[in-house]
Amino acid sequence: MTTRSVPITDELHSYLVAHGSAPDEVARELYAETRAVLPENAEMQVSPEQAALLGFLTRLVGARTAVEVGTFTGTSALAIARALPADGRLICCDISDEYTAIARRYWRRAGVEDRIDLRIAPALETLRALPTEPHLDLAFIDADKVGYPAYWAELVPRMRPGGLIGVDNVFRGGRVLAPQDESDRVISDFNDAVARDDRVEAVMLPVADGMTLARRR
Ligand SMILES: C[S@@+](CC[C@H](N)C(=O)[O-])C[C@H]1O[C@@H](n2cnc3c(N)ncnc32)[C@H](O)[C@@H]1O
Repeated sequence: MTTRSVPITDELHSYLVAHGSAPDEVARELYAETRAVLPENAEMQVSPEQAALLGFLTRLVGARTAVEVGTFTGTSALAIARALPADGRLICCDISDEYTAIARRYWRRAGVEDRIDLRIAPALETLRALPTEPHLDLAFIDADKVGYPAYWAELVPRMRPGGLIGVDNVFRGGRVLAPQDESDRVISDFNDAVARDDRVEAVMLPVADGMTLARRR
């Protein structure tokens, strides 16, 4: 028995990916193309186990309507969209045509392009234009860190009871313990606010750079 998570070595990471999170050919090629074309930014992609977890959670909540804030080259969106029913809808928010042009090609290859509504605009504008009543089954926040509190404020009231919000990078590489820049400070304060937010039941998981899962009460 252990009361804390076991440190994930490279070998243990390969082992866990091989046991339930291995990307298929389309996702493997998406990881490879992103690394080749955008080497400076490729670390922004969600990890294979995060992608698997997002697909798993999408199915678990029976999501039909989902929102992603921060799409980049489309890895997390691919995982979510594949787990939606054929008539499900994922609204993707990003500001980059360049990054999302890559995403679109892989979504098409995976046969999920028609489930994805990509909106190129500041995410806050896209979120504020959504219906205000609770209608979302799943949301994933993974864009600019200083925007997280505003994305949270727009998303929580739009989640149906039982709906799930995933939030990436809540560890900031461990710097939430001693913030070094504005993004670190915002996420540190954001994590405190989520833990106090009575509208949700939240748990912070040591997956990749830390991922909070919050279920709307
Ligand atoms: C960490 S990456 C997302 C990674 C993605 N979830 C994946 O699995 O590949 C962050 C993305 O947020 C986008 N972004 C940054 N600021 C934004 C804003 N204000 N509104 C919408 N998207 C934004 C960036 O263009 C970038 O593609």
